[in-house]
Amino acid sequence: MNALIGIDIGTSGAKTSLFTEGGEVIASYTGEYPMHQPYNGWAEQDPKDWWDASVKGLNAVIYEARKKDSSIAISGVGLSGQMHGLVMLDKDGEVLRPSIIWCDQRTEREVELMNEVVGRERLIRITANPAMTGFTAAKILWVQNNEPDIYERCAHILLPKDYIRYMLTGEFATEVSDAAGMQLMDIPNRDWSDEILRLLHIDRGLLAKMHESPDVTGRVHSRAAAGTGLPQGTIVVGGAGDNPAAAVGTGVVSEGVAFTTIGSSAVVYAVSDTVKIDMEGRVHALCASAPGKWTVMSCTQGAGISLKWLRDTCCLPEVLESERLDVDPYVVMDKLASEVAPGADRLIFLPYMMGERSPHPDPDCRGVFFGLSAMHGRQHLIRSVLEGVAFSQLECVEVFREMGVPVGDMVITGGGSNSRLWSQMLADLYGCPVSGMRSNEGAALGAALLAAVGAGVYGTVQEACSVVVRRGHTLTPDQASKDAYEPYFELYKKLYKTMKDDFKALSRL
Ligand code: XUL
Repeated sequence: MNALIGIDIGTSGAKTSLFTEGGEVIASYTGEYPMHQPYNGWAEQDPKDWWDASVKGLNAVIYEARKKDSSIAISGVGLSGQMHGLVMLDKDGEVLRPSIIWCDQRTEREVELMNEVVGRERLIRITANPAMTGFTAAKILWVQNNEPDIYERCAHILLPKDYIRYMLTGEFATEVSDAAGMQLMDIPNRDWSDEILRLLHIDRGLLAKMHESPDVTGRVHSRAAAGTGLPQGTIVVGGAGDNPAAAVGTGVVSEGVAFTTIGSSAVVYAVSDTVKIDMEGRVHALCASAPGKWTVMSCTQGAGISLKWLRDTCCLPEVLESERLDVDPYVVMDKLASEVAPGADRLIFLPYMMGERSPHPDPDCRGVFFGLSAMHGRQHLIRSVLEGVAFSQLECVEVFREMGVPVGDMVITGGGSNSRLWSQMLADLYGCPVSGMRSNEGAALGAALLAAVGAGVYGTVQEACSVVVRRGHTLTPDQASKDAYEPYFELYKKLYKTMKDDFKALSRL
């Protein structure tokens, strides 16, 4: 049997899945690793942790698959991963410093600098986004400004999944969907922008070779083959950032459909045939993993991160109960939250634990429980976190709709889609049906399907999706719940505006 492998370098762990060419999961393994936050607003990870988890994952899934079918042949590997992270290597390919990852917010000064040297309008015209603290360019400038000795020794700049490609194949390569989130590309032309690179003093030679997502970018070399169990010479395709990979895994590859993914971050993602820019930067315009297409995408920084924080700091009883029942702690937390009515008994959560990007690009805002009362229990805290993240998605969808991007056919994926309560909340708030996927492999499946296209199993990304991707159950919106949420959502939107300046004041303390 022929098989495909997708590796997704997430924020909480690396997921490696082995699929049949028809998209059935044969084996899957997730290896976890920490996120380090040495200062408020900073977020770093060690690229070696990503590699170790990928090596473990590859060995595990290949061993598992061979146990089931010893003749299994791997047609290709696709890579997916958290977007925007900065990986710097020296001339020998050694990691120079921890990766500054997507949700890090230390680059406010560098964003100002980018606006000064490039000009706000010009930057948007080329990179399709206003300067963003979370995107890679500002992180590169931060290292230029704060760690000049490291910048001096830097010979290669890569994104997280592209570091795994380097370790597998020795190639310094990337692809348009992830590179678009570096803010160094000419987005309409799908290549690096020489003008931006010149103005930011970044040598093009530091950057990886640009590909489209299904292109073959290299082959597994002998050392990686020995360490992972992959046959030497296996093709590795471009792959995609985790969200554009999830787009393939959920079949969102042409105009008219959209998905919401709730993982560490939460993202709403739609495909467009042309570049559609929001001049206020409330949502992003990027290249899609489907060649010749672009995307409109929002990102709530603290989605699963907020719930995980609540689990780890306040929900020990639920964690213990989950151990007793042998289920995921989130299942127990979900059940508790479902005992509370919409509005969480007048408790509103603002999910700005890692600052925010969409629809408020603001590195200084932080999480808030608004309306906390002595009558509230953990059930209210959990419910308000779920609602706050869901409100943020609706606030982003309102921007999509204002831009004329249709959001009426919504798919949901990511860890959060395992929660029926959260999924139903989104259907109620969006006021449109929300469909789960039959397979919840999302980004890993998307990466594997890109490998299938690169290997010639399917002719196009759209064809691969139409053969493989299947929806599961559909939740329909409930008008009574929508009405109940409405006043809370209106207040939720007002709270950011009210507190904006106070967040700034807090950040200066
Ligand atoms: C998207 C974003 C996150 C990361 C982490 O812009 O920053 O979704 O990709 O998953």
